[in-house]
Amino acid sequence: MKKLINIDLLPNFERDDEELIEKILKGYEDLRAQREVELELRKYFPQGEILFFGSAREALTFFLSILKRIDNRQEVLTQAFSCLVVPNAIKFANLRPVFVDIGDDFNFDLEDLKSKVGYNSLALIIQNTFGIPAKLEEILRLAKEKNIFVIENLTHALGARYEGNYLGNFGDATLLSFNRNKVISSIIGGALIIRNDFLKKDCLENYKSLNEWSDWEVKGLLLGTKILLKLKKYYHLKVTKGAIRFLRFLEITPEMVTSEEKQGIKPKNYLRKFPDKLFPLLLNQLKKLEKFNNQRKKIAQIYINSNLLNFSFQGEPNFLRFPVFSQLRKEILEDFKKDNIYLGDWYRCVLAPCSNNLKIFDYQEKSCPQAEKISQTVFNLPTLISEEEAYLVLEKLKKWLK
Ligand SMILES: Cc1ncc(COP(=O)(O)O)c(C=O)c1O
Repeated sequence: MKKLINIDLLPNFERDDEELIEKILKGYEDLRAQREVELELRKYFPQGEILFFGSAREALTFFLSILKRIDNRQEVLTQAFSCLVVPNAIKFANLRPVFVDIGDDFNFDLEDLKSKVGYNSLALIIQNTFGIPAKLEEILRLAKEKNIFVIENLTHALGARYEGNYLGNFGDATLLSFNRNKVISSIIGGALIIRNDFLKKDCLENYKSLNEWSDWEVKGLLLGTKILLKLKKYYHLKVTKGAIRFLRFLEITPEMVTSEEKQGIKPKNYLRKFPDKLFPLLLNQLKKLEKFNNQRKKIAQIYINSNLLNFSFQGEPNFLRFPVFSQLRKEILEDFKKDNIYLGDWYRCVLAPCSNNLKIFDYQEKSCPQAEKISQTVFNLPTLISEEEAYLVLEKLKKWLK
């Protein structure tokens, strides 16, 4: 059977990560790992207080809850063409998401953003979708003018730059994700970098009271991941997919978005600190960040050279995924699966995963027409693959995108 290419299934895990998982399962601990992770992150974010969470969505709720305490404005500007965990995170902080349409760079459309800013706008979240920097200069200018807090979402874009500087060094706070299909991964995890000095003290004080993951939960996560990594080799078999579903049912390899979250319900145990035991895994991945991102850049360039660039961008993107469009998306994704290649479908709906009741997330249908239109035809190519694999993907794609 052909080698599996799967954009979603633990794409960043290599042999050394697998060995480390085994080691941690046998009791390995490294008390210096957190400090070393912080030092690695300082290469990208020289300033700001770094706090670690179970996920980026929790980090966002945490930060917004702090803002809510000190300011009585209620609205958070966020873009359509996103993951539904983002509006959920806003609502879990008892604030209101206001959806902004996107431009042809998959980020905030500036005109729509300007029209939606009002006296009640507390913060805006810059998404940097797929690793493409948003139009930072104009957004920052508007935020300054209207005195709105700026959150840079780097869940797709860790390592991307704007005017020579790494993203994440422009706003009041920055979000990182270490979830399974992100730029780097420690299975789960996220971080909040607080750059606004005025907010640091409150954040640090409130962080102290957050709960921790229990040892058995972390063990379950590691064990589930160990099994998943083994199953990856047999992904083409029907029985493997059944086994993966069973692991999800047992909650040792949790869904990226839970059934509760799809209904706008806050999951139990939402808002916890990052587990200490996973810092060595995070450190190992961080040390490989530059290598991963160089490869992503190389593969994205191959796609660009093959005339697949059908969108605009500014700055220096770091493509977590490379977006392409086709009316035949469904057929293409199915056809690739026959060759054991699983392409991505971010974002097949304005708020993904698809829900037939977007009102749960305060989204009014037709309020962001461009996002709705783009979500009907977009799909994504992997970037953390070998050059040989990229040419294989291109060869197969050629017959569809003529
Ligand atoms: C744009 C965006 N922001 C935030 C998140 C949340 O990241 P995490 O999975 O770490 O909570 C996601 C998750 O996919 C995302 O796509």
